[in-house]
Amino acid sequence: MAEERVPVLETKCLGIQFGGLKAVNDVNIEIYPGELIGLIGPNGAGKTTIFNLITGIYKPTSGSYLLCGRRMNGLSTHQVVEAGIARTFQNIRLFKKMTVLENVMVAFNKDMKCNLFQSIFRTPFFWKEEAETAQKAMELLKLFQLDGFADQLAENLPYGKQRLLEIARALATDMKLLLLDEPAAGMNPVETAELKESIKMLREKFRIPILLIEHDMSLVMSICERIYVLNFGEILASGKPEEIANNKDVIEAYLGKEDEGGEEDA
Ligand SMILES: Nc1ncnc2c1ncn2[C@@H]1O[C@H](COP(=O)(O)OP(=O)(O)OP(=O)(O)O)[C@@H](O)[C@H]1O
Ligand SMILES: [Mg+2]
Repeated sequence: MAEERVPVLETKCLGIQFGGLKAVNDVNIEIYPGELIGLIGPNGAGKTTIFNLITGIYKPTSGSYLLCGRRMNGLSTHQVVEAGIARTFQNIRLFKKMTVLENVMVAFNKDMKCNLFQSIFRTPFFWKEEAETAQKAMELLKLFQLDGFADQLAENLPYGKQRLLEIARALATDMKLLLLDEPAAGMNPVETAELKESIKMLREKFRIPILLIEHDMSLVMSICERIYVLNFGEILASGKPEEIANNKDVIEAYLGKEDEGGEEDA
């Protein structure tokens, strides 16, 4: 039954302190297979810091986190990716001078069997593997309707498509959990609608569990099954979208404030 399922992600009293500031404190989050979970809260609440903790960028000063029951504290960012946590960043991080296709291909490259000799001397094995990687990358691009842009430089893509490319690239790693940090930030309504369709497609096609940080409440409320609200580094509330939307504390701390938005860089 539900209680016996192992969470894909579990944080236990997770926290980090920067000097005197408890940026994240006592955070307990559980994500089960196939779930799409929202993480919301005011600017500076600690949302991105949670992503940085569970991707090995920061080391927790308290608590722990587990991926499919495996304790992850102390792993490097590289080991975290190997273990199956993929993410996108609040500020887009693409290889701007590489093509759209190459951006996805480099993410596949960690799986390539080709050794240095084979790649330097471009042996038949190299070309075969290269062609297979290109084909897999193309298939991913198609899912996001980016295949028509494959040969363009990433920096020349419209903003919304750059964000989708980041997600496509994250999918090239063999992942168990996907973390999206404000994917809709700076998008126009048409781009946000495209993003929403892409996230739905990911869920239906891959059943990937997703933790979504977002300030766009209509997006979060319409696609997430459960939502955690963070305020001053602590979980203020968690529950179904309608519970969160009507929660007095959440309205007071966040939802009732007009000026929150994802446009600024944090
Ligand atoms: N490396 C660091 N050193 C010191 N303080 C930090 C560090 N990283 C984050 N913080 C602080 O932790 C707090 C949480 O920041 P964080 O970026 O996680 O907020 P956020 O919820 O993602 O906000 P936003 O919605 O604006 O992106 C902020 O007060 C921030 O200044
Ligand atoms: Mg942030």
